[in-house]
Amino acid sequence: MFIASVLGKFTTSRIIVYHCFFKRKYSNSNQIFINGKSYEVDSWTNVTPKIISYIGKNLHLQKSHPLSLLRERITNFFYFHYKNNRGNPLFSVYDNLYPIVTVEQNFDNLLVPEDHVSRNKSDCYYLNSKYLLRGHSSAHENELIQSGLDNFLIFSDVYRRDQIDSSHYPVFHQVEGVRLFLRHELFSLNPDAEGSIDVFEKGVRTETKQEVHTYDAARVVEYSLKSSLTALVRHLFGQKVRWVDAYFPFTHPSFELEMKFNGEWMELLGCGVLEHQTLVKAGVEDKIGWAFGIGLERLAMILYNIPDIRLFWSTDPGFLNQFNVSDINTNVKYKPISIYPPCPNDISFWLPGNADEFSDNDFYDLVRTVAGDVVEQVNLVDKFYHPKKKLYSRTYRIVYRHMEKTLTQEEVNKVHRLVEEAAERSLEVKIR
Ligand code: PHE
Repeated sequence: MFIASVLGKFTTSRIIVYHCFFKRKYSNSNQIFINGKSYEVDSWTNVTPKIISYIGKNLHLQKSHPLSLLRERITNFFYFHYKNNRGNPLFSVYDNLYPIVTVEQNFDNLLVPEDHVSRNKSDCYYLNSKYLLRGHSSAHENELIQSGLDNFLIFSDVYRRDQIDSSHYPVFHQVEGVRLFLRHELFSLNPDAEGSIDVFEKGVRTETKQEVHTYDAARVVEYSLKSSLTALVRHLFGQKVRWVDAYFPFTHPSFELEMKFNGEWMELLGCGVLEHQTLVKAGVEDKIGWAFGIGLERLAMILYNIPDIRLFWSTDPGFLNQFNVSDINTNVKYKPISIYPPCPNDISFWLPGNADEFSDNDFYDLVRTVAGDVVEQVNLVDKFYHPKKKLYSRTYRIVYRHMEKTLTQEEVNKVHRLVEEAAERSLEVKIR
């Protein structure tokens, strides 16, 4: 929302187009219906049916999706590094909060000034003047803090109107982290000892602290924040980072963390010490804490060598299956899939003996040997036991795809037949 937000153009005529579209497509009145709820269309409405269709896709929860792998890795990092005194994870995780939020949630609670660019129609998808698709996960800070939570992570899809290129997409994903401390948690050594340190004072705002915080408290929170995030990035990338000062309306001091990528420093996240006023708005007066927000796509693109942000939306198994790993820490390096069309062909056979004497990997190796690089994937799609014949069956789908040309069905049939013959010969199966 605030990081590199680009002012786009938005004209009244486009609003009218959306208006008409909604009237035709969604209702006969001036309403938009989403998940059984209706929203009055007004002069703020700029959300499109296409954008609405992304609601509920939840890539970050999709099995074997790179964003889901990253979610698990980040969650594990926090679970492992932060435990309560009973040894249980300190942070609770929210990964399915509803993306339609109020202007209050997205901006007001976070002290975003009335005239801040991030509120512009050109930057957000508004349902109407009251509701919008969240522009950042920070929109949920207030409600979670208000519900009594001190340590939490939010994984969510966020929506921003932005340019279209290999690293921008109107829907992307973020993880937000929040950690709050009471005085004795911050200065846990000996909080009641004489000369112990206070968290609050009536002081002045400086570059490094807010007026209500003592210098010492602000420094300790800043240290906690920076060391957590440095450790997270080291855990994921094993790389050096640097800190630069930043501005967010709801944190002070604020920072961005940068990492060297392809020889250049690249911004990975925004964070800071929460403005005390945001806590007061959530009914919390006696705590101090930090928050951060990370864009997951950017992280995943670096981590897994994914060249284009559109790939995250790919339903091509050639993309998704590369992330189908049993260990989430596997160092997957994405290999570009061919732009030529895939040709899936199934192969079914009876096994020569018992099911447990047959190994899938043997078949995969055979396919590799016989068909070579025109095979993009092989997947087991069906298996059963035929009680009358007393035979076990297997069906695999082989996806053929050439990297440099479109394969004809005739060419594929030839290779496929070779695979069948080889399987009968060396695995002693019987093609059905
Ligand atoms: N919400 C901010 C953004 O999307 C990131 C952020 C989160 C900054 C939490 C500070 C604290 O740009």
